[in-house]
Amino acid sequence: SDAPVIAVDGPSGSGKGTISRLLAQRLGWHLLDSGALYRLTALAAMRRGFEFEDATALAAVAGALDVRFAGDGERARVLLEGEDVGLAIRAEDCGAAASRVAALGPVRDALLQRQRDFRRRPGLVADGRDMGTVVFPDAALKIFLTASQEERASRRLKQLKDQGVSANLPSLLRDLAERDARDARRAVSPLRPADDAIEIDSSGLDIPAVLDRILALARERN
Ligand code: C5P
Repeated sequence: SDAPVIAVDGPSGSGKGTISRLLAQRLGWHLLDSGALYRLTALAAMRRGFEFEDATALAAVAGALDVRFAGDGERARVLLEGEDVGLAIRAEDCGAAASRVAALGPVRDALLQRQRDFRRRPGLVADGRDMGTVVFPDAALKIFLTASQEERASRRLKQLKDQGVSANLPSLLRDLAERDARDARRAVSPLRPADDAIEIDSSGLDIPAVLDRILALARERN
């Protein structure tokens, strides 16, 4: 497909999930939440009792994922084998497991085409870690969204509290630092900005401000 792509990459808690969803809504484009595919792979593997060291088995799980994304916006649902797992995949343990399966090359390869299949007219907003570097290297616009570790941890704390999940800042900070390190130093598709990415530090910026900046950049590119 030659539909245009906006790649939004960055570490967890940078706000890229929210920003990507709003961006897709504003543009009327499709949305790819690539992290959800890694989370779903991790969940499916955990449910089957697979070891996270078994790259071959995990790649098979990733390749055969029976997943459906239904609806969008606030009412978006994620179905794994027909079951709504929207909440299960957002849990911290699933995120940590996702970052482990995401370090495996065969798993990433198994998810590559599935991600590219999201590219349809009129366009795609792709949210992830390697959207601009690996999955959509020809994206029309590449954003690398960051925020300080403290800011990201406290945003995550608020998110969890809103969902009625108990959590504390020190342990969130520790988990975040661990996940960042694992995502950045892995051998395959490490988290890094594409050479032609535009970095936006969202610390101290609110969501509409970040959104406006990206929309302005998108208009410039057209
Ligand atoms: O973005 P999210 O927190 O849902 O992603 C969960 C994990 O999946 C990340 O920590 C990262 O290890 C992995 N991931 C990835 N490549 C992507 C998206 C997510 O490696 N494109």
